[in-house]
Amino acid sequence: MTAEHKHPHEHGHGDRHDHDHEHGHKHDHVHKTRFHDPQHAAEFDRRTSDIRADLAEKLADMLSLKGDEQILDVATGTGRVARPVAKRLKTGRIVGVDQALAMLDVGHHHEDPIRAYSQSAGEADALPFKSNSFDRAFVSFSLHHFGNPAGVVHEVLRVLKNGGKFVVLDPIVKEARDSVDVALETKINQVFRRTHGDNFRFHTASSIQRLLMKVGYRIARGTVVTYPFEQDGMDGIPTGAHWLEVAEELEVEAPQLAQRLRENYFTWHKHGDAVRVKGGFSYAREHRKERPH
Ligand SMILES: C[S@@+](CC[C@H](N)C(=O)[O-])C[C@H]1O[C@@H](n2cnc3c(N)ncnc32)[C@H](O)[C@@H]1O
Repeated sequence: MTAEHKHPHEHGHGDRHDHDHEHGHKHDHVHKTRFHDPQHAAEFDRRTSDIRADLAEKLADMLSLKGDEQILDVATGTGRVARPVAKRLKTGRIVGVDQALAMLDVGHHHEDPIRAYSQSAGEADALPFKSNSFDRAFVSFSLHHFGNPAGVVHEVLRVLKNGGKFVVLDPIVKEARDSVDVALETKINQVFRRTHGDNFRFHTASSIQRLLMKVGYRIARGTVVTYPFEQDGMDGIPTGAHWLEVAEELEVEAPQLAQRLRENYFTWHKHGDAVRVKGGFSYAREHRKERPH
């Protein structure tokens, strides 16, 4: 189904992969997201950080593995999170599914191969697997990219065995308390959509919960993990670079929203060529769901 991406961008698109089409689904079938660009896929895989590594370990903890499980990694990308999870397996296996062949390719040719891992090209809301196939499933750093998140969690429920567990790990925004928060969230999503396409949408802790409960998951546990930071620039802070774009634009366009951004998330001060950022992002709403028996 994604075969048209078999030869993506072989003849140098240069760095024109940011797809700034304001209202466009026009190119959807040709080139859905940056993840279909081999250059971006390779660069994505190199972005590792302590926060990411820590979150991956927390996710693995929540999967509570004995070591013999069949695990599904939904939107596996280059397998960055599957790698540490696989280290906890003995006889079990992980299958990673993703729509972007460029991301799967990077994982496939990786210098540090993932044990007991296989890949499958496919859409997260039309999983290419039989019902009742997996003991565990997880989705990391991808829920906010899905155009049809309800379809995805529904599909995961279908392929999970009875009693199976599903863990969602995703950056979240704060629950909106008033119209300023709503306007801020709109602006944040707008900025991210310029790079990631129209499907992009940050969720809140409660919107993830509602999404899951609506299709029939039982909530076993939900935890928000906040990572404080104080440093020059956003290196190592997942999704950080775009947050700084939000800050710089709001400072000019809407001081009231800039102020709320400071209160809710982080402050920023230019000094020389650097920008000092200080605050905290709640990168993960960790959920552990049990499929009802
Ligand atoms: C930010 S990456 C995360 C990859 C990996 N889970 C990680 O944590 O490193 C998001 C991934 O979601 C994939 N993706 C987005 N929408 C998808 C969909 N509807 N079906 C399958 N994969 C999808 C993208 O191709 C990309 O590889």
